[in-house]
Amino acid sequence: MKRPTPDLAAALQAASTVLRALDWRALGEVYFHWGGEEFWAEKRPDVLRLGEALARALAGRLRRGGRSLWVGAGVAELPVLLVESLALGREVIASNLRAAEVDALNAGLAAAAPDVALRYVAGDARTAGGEGTFDHVGCISVFTDPEMWPTLSGVSYGRLPPVQIDVERFVAEREAARGLAAALFARLARPGLVTTSAEEAAWFLDQAECGGATIDASEEMVETAVVGDAVGFLAVR
Ligand SMILES: C[S@@+](CC[C@H](N)C(=O)[O-])C[C@H]1O[C@@H](n2cnc3c(N)ncnc32)[C@H](O)[C@@H]1O
Repeated sequence: MKRPTPDLAAALQAASTVLRALDWRALGEVYFHWGGEEFWAEKRPDVLRLGEALARALAGRLRRGGRSLWVGAGVAELPVLLVESLALGREVIASNLRAAEVDALNAGLAAAAPDVALRYVAGDARTAGGEGTFDHVGCISVFTDPEMWPTLSGVSYGRLPPVQIDVERFVAEREAARGLAAALFARLARPGLVTTSAEEAAWFLDQAECGGATIDASEEMVETAVVGDAVGFLAVR
């Protein structure tokens, strides 16, 4: 493995410091259905290790000084967001609909990295960050979220047998998800990059096909710490 540049190493060190400062009890309540604080005690080492792997893979694909829009960014994305912000000098809009999670993450950032510009935004990625486009959209385990899309999630992960699919519900969720994918794709500059999981790539491929864009998918994949989905990169022209 290549030695990290000092900037990357410093950003990863900041991520480690912020992770130590987070209120894991509060985050445990956000994720209580997965086992809360115990869940995090088990996952925390992976957040830094796999976050670093994703940050390294992404850093080689992004230019300095660009703009990223992250959808549903949580604890797992913290190292990569700090690398983008600190090591690459990029503007990072990290949106998430769960206000309690955003508050806990921002409290950790404010306590452990007060001079760093990065803060999470509680709100919808369709409007977060105001006007303008982004040369990178990060979207990890959003379209497969079982809370938001129980049917799509079941189909995506192969948990829902065809005989049990509520077809009307499936169609409604698919149209809503297509609307989100279209809004995100419209915010992506060309050429642009999408970081997303294998299970979600089809939402962006569908948008590219509708809009006459071309997508090259990376062969490189990196596992994510919390959900465990494999993440890759879509180069959009
Ligand atoms: C399963 S979680 C994934 C969290 C994180 N990306 C990870 O991999 O651990 C899905 C997240 O997407 C967020 N989300 C869903 N739709 C969104 C939207 N339109 N804008 C911003 N966040 C959204 C939800 O609030 C939730 O926090």
